[in-house]
Amino acid sequence: MPQDFSQFASECRLRVDSALDQYLPVGTDPTQLRAAMRYSLFNGGKRVRPILAYAAALAVKPGIDLALVDPIAASVESLHSYSLVHDDLPAMDDDDLRRGKPTCHIAFNEATAILAGDGLQTLAFELLTSTNLDSRVQIELVRALVQGSGVEGMVLGQAIDLAAVDHRLDLAQLETMHRHKTGALIRASVAMGAICAGADGQQLQALDNYAAAIGLAFQVQDDILDVISDTNTLGKQQGADIARNKPTYVSLLGLDAAKAKASELHRQALGALEAFDDSAVHLRQLASYIVERSN
Ligand code: IPE
Ligand code: IPE
Ligand code: MG
Ligand code: MG
Ligand code: MG
Repeated sequence: MPQDFSQFASECRLRVDSALDQYLPVGTDPTQLRAAMRYSLFNGGKRVRPILAYAAALAVKPGIDLALVDPIAASVESLHSYSLVHDDLPAMDDDDLRRGKPTCHIAFNEATAILAGDGLQTLAFELLTSTNLDSRVQIELVRALVQGSGVEGMVLGQAIDLAAVDHRLDLAQLETMHRHKTGALIRASVAMGAICAGADGQQLQALDNYAAAIGLAFQVQDDILDVISDTNTLGKQQGADIARNKPTYVSLLGLDAAKAKASELHRQALGALEAFDDSAVHLRQLASYIVERSN
């Protein structure tokens, strides 16, 4: 794989897009379900979670055949895309722009968007159980994705987020919300890449420390971008958090302190990778990308 980050990221995006296309082909469907699922998958996402899974697998086993990681990368992206489709629904954030295009419920309708989300979620688990990996490894992968996405992960974070609208959270509560709604799936993406590469307990722990730091940093930067970026660059409505009176790192701490928090988490993430040599180059690059990205 190329050392250069943008080349590496492009190769990962090509791999995961081709895997997703293979696992969810156009096909025939008497309804709009499959079309809505494909619309929500192939609409220009950055593919950060798949790239993390590839980079974690390479950190553990530099010579790994990345074809082994493809279903895992496709799985985390399918799960993530479902979370976005539901996040945008009128009952949740009520957004009409996502990845520069009308959100799924605007392009189709609300019921189809709910079902497309459901379909993307179950597809994510199907992908983990149709690999050639040992069945015990498959179970570990399923467990990691459940932890990251379920009632102790992303879904809990989303529930905290919705309950927090119009309320003031303290910093500890805000951090808990962010660690769940965004951090948990990022941790799962790193863990799953590492598990399929045969990571040992020590490696998994170090990588989880890395992922916990960048997972929180990712949402801190999302909060910052909601304030400093523009709708065109973001591909989603700028200022949506302020408009909906959502507690964020910026609303609680101010812009400068939010940026300082992201830098501190970046430093922690790099520290967690100390035991890894050059094999973790892409994980280090991703840590920088996550706090420097502009969309
Ligand atoms: C957006 O995720 C939702 C959050 C968890 C902050 P991304 O910023 O990764 O969105 P895409 O996948 O690139 O559209
Ligand atoms: C999203 O948080 C977390 C998810 C689980 C999708 P946000 O609501 O801040 O994400 P965006 O800003 O709409 O992408
Ligand atoms: Mg939300
Ligand atoms: Mg949202
Ligand atoms: Mg946001």
